[in-house]
Amino acid sequence: MAYSLLYVSKALLTFPAGEAEVAAIVQASCVRNALLDVTGALISTGGCFAQVLEGDETAVAELMHSINNDPRHMRVKIIRTTEEPRRFAGWSMAYSGHASFVDRHITPLFSPLSAGDTAHLALKLIALMEEFARLPSRSP
Ligand SMILES: Cc1cc2nc3c(=O)[nH]c(=O)nc-3n(C[C@H](O)[C@H](O)[C@H](O)COP(=O)(O)O)c2cc1C
Repeated sequence: MAYSLLYVSKALLTFPAGEAEVAAIVQASCVRNALLDVTGALISTGGCFAQVLEGDETAVAELMHSINNDPRHMRVKIIRTTEEPRRFAGWSMAYSGHASFVDRHITPLFSPLSAGDTAHLALKLIALMEEFARLPSRSP
C-alpha cells in the first residue's frame, strides 16, 4: 500500500512555449521522485495541471512542499488522499503530454463540490491518467 495524493492547479505558463518548461519539470521530477521512491503521473492541459503522487507519506509531503511553492502554477488544490496500491508503479513520473480535452475533467474540481461528486470526478480523472500512462509513447 502507498499514500496517494491527487491535486489540481492552474498553470501560469504560456503555451506552446510552456511545453519546454513542462518537459523540464518532468525531467527533474523523474530524478527526484525516483530518489524518494515516489511514483505518479502528470497531465498538462495548457490551462491546468493534475498530478498523482504516490509513495511514503513523508516523501509525498516533501514534494508537495516544493510543488506548492512553485511559481509556474497557482491554486494548488488537493482533491484526494488515500492509502491504496500504487497505480503508477514503475513510473517516477508518467507524463501525458498536452491533453487540452482533459480540461473539462479538471476545471469542475476547482469549484466547491459534494464529497461524492469530488470522489467521482477524481476517480474519472485518475482513470484517464492511467490510460495515458499505458500508451507506448508516454515513457518518463
Ligand atoms: C505542476 C508541477 C508538478 C511538479 N511535479 C514535481 C514532481 O513530481 N517532482 C519534483 O521533484 N518536482 C516537481 N515539480 C517541480 C517542483 O515544484 C520544484 O521546482 C522542484 O522539485 C525543485 O524543488 P525545490 O525548488 O524545493 O528545490 C513540479 C512543478 C510543477 C509546476
